[in-house]
Amino acid sequence: MKTINSIAEMQRLADELRAGWKRIGLVPTMGYLHEGHMSLVDEAKKRSDVVVMSIYVNPTQFAQGEDLTTYPRDLARDEKMAGSRGVDVVFAPSDKEMYPEEHLAFVEVEKAARILEGEFRPTHFRGVATVVAKLFNIVKPHSAVLGQKDAQQAFIINKMVKDLNFDVRVVIAPIVREPDGLALSSRNVYLSETERREATVLYRSLKLAESMAGRGEKDLARIRAEMLKLITTDSGGKVDYINFVNPETFERIEEAGSLHRILALIAVRFGKTRLIDNIYLHTPGS
Ligand code: PAJ
Repeated sequence: MKTINSIAEMQRLADELRAGWKRIGLVPTMGYLHEGHMSLVDEAKKRSDVVVMSIYVNPTQFAQGEDLTTYPRDLARDEKMAGSRGVDVVFAPSDKEMYPEEHLAFVEVEKAARILEGEFRPTHFRGVATVVAKLFNIVKPHSAVLGQKDAQQAFIINKMVKDLNFDVRVVIAPIVREPDGLALSSRNVYLSETERREATVLYRSLKLAESMAGRGEKDLARIRAEMLKLITTDSGGKVDYINFVNPETFERIEEAGSLHRILALIAVRFGKTRLIDNIYLHTPGS
């Protein structure tokens, strides 16, 4: 496995690979790798000859006061993990390489980027879409694998690819969880022992929603109320949102109506740590 820090070198390699008809798979990450990231590598390996993993903590997706400077980093450990899982190239540029001068071009995905996470982090998805567009132009992948863990991010990148005609196939891989249900996240290391124990309440509340919907509950406000009750009884977590969207459009809904597949999304703060999770709800008849 090799590590590339330069954009020009990465683009040169991508051109060479494409000239040799090799299929390039990209796994974009911010590093501090865990099994969730590794599952994306497995998926990328299935459909590509060469797997490139980008490791870059992208400043434009963090707002002032967020955890950009404290975001966990360990490139040496990441390189080892990536290499032993079969990543061929780690692309790990510096900030200077990615944003060498005043950056004036950004990618905005309307609507979906304004709700849910976007309400709490108004500039977040603009930074995400912009850096992913840059990575697509640098790595020139045939496919890119993203995690369902960040469902809104996956929707937005998919929409960007569709609307701007990027020649990249976006593949969404399922959420990898700890045995007790907590979704793996680089940010889980911020949790205290008590918070870590209480953090299972995200998944438990989503499972509760799943079973209520499965029993035919169509009033999503009622499902939200039960989830909120569980979270406030079982933990000290502060709920930012519990929302339901039509997964095809990412528009918020309050009633299941005739929809048989609904995406429930949740964000809860434990101290300074903000955790997100989601689950598909299937109402009877689906
Ligand atoms: P990061 O948080 O490092 O996540 C990289 C990829 O791993 C994302 O596609 C994310 O959805 C996926 N992932 C994280 N936890 C997962 C889990 N438990 N199971 C499955 N997949 C999981 O998301 C980002 O970085 C950045 O926003 C990025 C897209 C790289 C742009 O900077």
